[in-house]
Amino acid sequence: MQIAATIAQARALFDVLPRPLGFVPTMGALHEGHLALVRRARAESAAVAASVFVNPLQFAPGEDLARYPRDPEGDRAKLAQAGIDVLFAPGVEAMYPSGFSTSVDTGRLAEVFEGAIRPAHFRGVATVVCALLNVVRPDALYLGQKDAQQTAVVRRMVRDLEIPTTVVIVPTQREADGLALSSRNAYLSAEEREAAPSLHHALQAVRLAMAGGRSKADAIAAGRARLHPLARLDYLDVVDADTFDPIDSLSPPAFVIGAARFGTTRLLDNLWIE
Ligand code: PAJ
Repeated sequence: MQIAATIAQARALFDVLPRPLGFVPTMGALHEGHLALVRRARAESAAVAASVFVNPLQFAPGEDLARYPRDPEGDRAKLAQAGIDVLFAPGVEAMYPSGFSTSVDTGRLAEVFEGAIRPAHFRGVATVVCALLNVVRPDALYLGQKDAQQTAVVRRMVRDLEIPTTVVIVPTQREADGLALSSRNAYLSAEEREAAPSLHHALQAVRLAMAGGRSKADAIAAGRARLHPLARLDYLDVVDADTFDPIDSLSPPAFVIGAARFGTTRLLDNLWIE
C-alpha cells in the first residue's frame, strides 16, 4: 500500500494505477462498515484507493470535530490488510489551501432532514467529495447506505455536474442486535448502547406496518412506540430515495429514515426499499 499526503503525490500515484479504479472516501476510525465498502471495491476493481480525511467543512461550530475519533495507525493497518493500493491521507492545508472558497450546493435535498438539523453539513460533504473525485478520478465511488441522505446528495452532484464515475451503494453493516456500525457508537454509555438498537427496531416497525397496509401516520406511531424511553427522536419518515421528499407509500426506490439522540450522541439509521 502506498500513501499520499499531498495532491501532487496522490496524482502521481493515481495516474499509473490499473483501471477500473474503485474509491472509498472515509473520515477514518475505520470499522467493519467501512471495510465492507473496501471489500466490495476490491472485488469489483483492478485497483482500490481509500481516503482518510476528517473534513472540517462538514462539521458546524460546536459539533464533534475536535473529539471525532482518530486512529491513523489502526486505519493504515486495516487498509493494508484489506488490500488497498493507495491511501490518500491529506492534511487540512492540502485539501483547503489558503484562499479556498468554492462550495458545492445541491439545493433542497441538502436542506431537509439531516440538512435541516445540520445546515452546512451536506455542502461540506459535497464539496469535499467533489474535490476528492477530481484528485482520485475513480471509475467507481463506494458509499454506505448507512448515510442515506449523503448517498442522495452525492448521486445528485455526480449527475448534475457530469462527474464521470459510477456511484455504488453498499448495504449497512450492523451489530448482532441490529445497531448500525458507526464511529459515533463509541460515545454511547452502557445504558445508551442498550437502548440504541431501538432506532433500528422503530424503522422495522414502520416498514412492517406500511407493508401490512396501515396508513403512514399509523405506521410512524407504531415505530415511535418501539423506541426506547432514552431515545429522543429527531425524525422518523418515509422518503423518495432520490429527492428525500416524504411519500405516503413504500413505493421503491425509497428509504424509511430515522435519527435519534441517545444522551449527547445522535444516531442515524434507515431501511432501503428497493
Ligand atoms: P465516514 O462516516 O467515515 O463514512 C465513510 C463511508 O463509510 C460512508 O460512505 C459511510 O456511509 C460508510 N459507512 C459508515 N458506516 C457504515 C455501515 N455501518 N455500513 C456500511 N457503510 C458504512 O461518510 C463520511 O465518512 C464522510 O461524509 C465522507 C463521505 C468521507 C466525506 O467526508
